[in-house]
Amino acid sequence: MKTHLSLSALVAVCLLSLASCGSQKATDPTEAKIDSLLTQMTLDEKIGQMNQLTGMGISDDMKQQIKEGKVGSILNEVDVNIINELQRVAVEESRLHIPLIFGRDVIHGYKTIFPIPLGQAASWNTQLAEEGARIAAQEAASVGIRWTFAPMVDVSRDPRWGRIAESCGEDPYMNAEFGAAMVRGFQGKNLSDKTSMAACAKHFAGYGASESGKDYNTTWIPETQLRDVYLPSFKAAVDAGVATFMCSFNDINGMPSSGNKHLNRDILRQEWQFDGMLVSDWGSIDQMISQGVCATPKEAAQKGLEAGVDMDMMGLSYISQLKNLVQEGTVSEKMIDESVRNILRLKFRLGLFDQPYTDVTKANDFYRPESLEAAKLAAIESAVLLKNNGILPLDNRYKTVAVVGPLADAALEQFGTWSFDAEPDRAITPLKAITDTYGKQYKIIGEPALTFSRDSNITHINQAVAAARKADVVLVFAGEEAILSGEAHCRADISLPGLQNELMTALKATGKPIVLVVMAGRPLTIEKQIAQSEAVLFAFHGGSMAGPALADLIFGKAVPSGKLPVTFPRMVGQVPVYYAHNNTGRPPSNIVTIDKIPVGVFQTSLGNTSFHLDAGDKPMYPFGYGLSYSTFEYSKVTLSSNKLNKDGKLTAQCTIKNTGRYDAKEVVQFYVRDLVASLSRPVRELKGFDKVFLKAGESKTVKFEIDASQLGFWHEDNTYYAEPGEFHIWISKDSQSGEPVTFKLLADNNKK
Ligand code: NOJ
Repeated sequence: MKTHLSLSALVAVCLLSLASCGSQKATDPTEAKIDSLLTQMTLDEKIGQMNQLTGMGISDDMKQQIKEGKVGSILNEVDVNIINELQRVAVEESRLHIPLIFGRDVIHGYKTIFPIPLGQAASWNTQLAEEGARIAAQEAASVGIRWTFAPMVDVSRDPRWGRIAESCGEDPYMNAEFGAAMVRGFQGKNLSDKTSMAACAKHFAGYGASESGKDYNTTWIPETQLRDVYLPSFKAAVDAGVATFMCSFNDINGMPSSGNKHLNRDILRQEWQFDGMLVSDWGSIDQMISQGVCATPKEAAQKGLEAGVDMDMMGLSYISQLKNLVQEGTVSEKMIDESVRNILRLKFRLGLFDQPYTDVTKANDFYRPESLEAAKLAAIESAVLLKNNGILPLDNRYKTVAVVGPLADAALEQFGTWSFDAEPDRAITPLKAITDTYGKQYKIIGEPALTFSRDSNITHINQAVAAARKADVVLVFAGEEAILSGEAHCRADISLPGLQNELMTALKATGKPIVLVVMAGRPLTIEKQIAQSEAVLFAFHGGSMAGPALADLIFGKAVPSGKLPVTFPRMVGQVPVYYAHNNTGRPPSNIVTIDKIPVGVFQTSLGNTSFHLDAGDKPMYPFGYGLSYSTFEYSKVTLSSNKLNKDGKLTAQCTIKNTGRYDAKEVVQFYVRDLVASLSRPVRELKGFDKVFLKAGESKTVKFEIDASQLGFWHEDNTYYAEPGEFHIWISKDSQSGEPVTFKLLADNNKK
């Protein structure tokens, strides 16, 4: 017999807690204030709270709408004086004095830009991500932005998808850990603090599974996979106290998220007891018409409301249709009240009723020295050393350094996607940092060769070749401009755009050693360019301080410690390729690639196992991979026991020794595998990680604890539980290395 929370038990628990929650709410002073407001509000005023408009400066029309109580929130207004003036109209001229909430996509920094989230995840340092979000909140809140549409916690296994830049990669546990850290950072200790912003877990849900990595596309996700892979990061955001959620644009199995009762009501509200606010994505309620599940704006408004979407972001359906729907009795006013309650609760939690205005004397508090330092540290830890034939860090063997490539001196591009408010003149580029900091010790020759990443003008490649000939080493800053990733910026070919490959080949022909630094919003297929280089640093888009961070890494003042949060394919045709895949019935063996197949052999002569004839069975680099200037030795993993009981815990430990010459940080990863289960399970799953600092020669023992609750998975009857039997554990450098040790989860774990 198996111990598990059956669905009916789950529902009973939820209903019980809802009931107790309800009675708590009755005595909660905030709920009482909301009750009082709700009794005074007209239907129009209620619907007005559910309406979010984009900022368009101050217009008489906007003021009038606010005065009439037709607007609950404004996004994209960033001028503190306009924000205060619009707020003044809301709290002084509207009938019930309800404040507005101002929102903005403050994704990886407001003015001081941190690495893109995918880069932050490559640091495997959640503390840095939390600090980054704190700084972003402090800067944005100083102008009155009290709500950010971040973190995006969509698990992303497709590098073609532009929004992979905005995610924390392919793994559910990583997205959960980083998402929770960012929520803590944005929201601070207390949401009502003037430096706090309400965070928003988005996009609920499954958006990262968009077919063919094309944005807004449809998804097909079985419930078990949804719950095992795509939902844990959202649940972690709820557990971290996230104030708001946003619907995703995609449909799952035919049902768009903005009309998805199962997601928004059954899971988010009932199972997870979320009492924050749920906003649609931009126009996503109306878009259910294009998606073919609603015929009219009226149907869309009804569907959105019935699915529990509280606020309509830049759509017209709620404001134009809800009143009719209530008046004709199609939807109940009670449902509207529920949504308005969630919106008002958020405004109370942010302290907006007590302190609606932003102090202009403290506004524009940007670029504090400690913020820039934190951004630099984050950029250092985000860079992943993919290859090093011993050339890095550069030393005085290399006296003349050519700095080449379209991203060497491209301030705007190094910010990456979602940096609306960044100021290029406040970014320090690699060329500037290298010249300023190392220009006295080394002769630096700057020659970009291409003016932007897609540049197809060959004219200046010869100048770069001439510069390379004069140099002892060539640093090539290649990659993608910021505009090539992010929302609606998906690519079917993820190689270096423009003439960058030609540039690499021309530089290689000089015979000078190449150090390739890639700045991009996604994994790229750069196998050939890696082969042409002596060393490769993959830096993602590193933000304001990418230049100084990379300069310090290249010249050895800092040591690389990033590891990949996503698998790098060799060829785009391998996608989706991720480490936590299920095994096939015919795991790869005897790989014979296309060039090795003898002519005229029989069909079955290759052994019939699972691989691509042209790409083999391995990605370019696996999840979790990354080198250091130092080296680390892992001892054999030992377990506190080779059996795990019900309610018990098991500790796995491993001693890591820094065997190299540099003091350095190492990301230690903890994986498990359920060997035999009622459903095929992933070949490895990340369950923990630790980033440890070790001086040269130093050893440390790293411990991970595990219990049965972390070993379970979702079953087809919608229950989560661990099945008894053998498991493997690894403590390893990445998702492919290490020797597993075995333990047994005992059967009594599954007895009632
Ligand atoms: C659409 C995007 O999908 C979402 O992530 C963003 O927050 C909103 N637009 C607001 O800009």
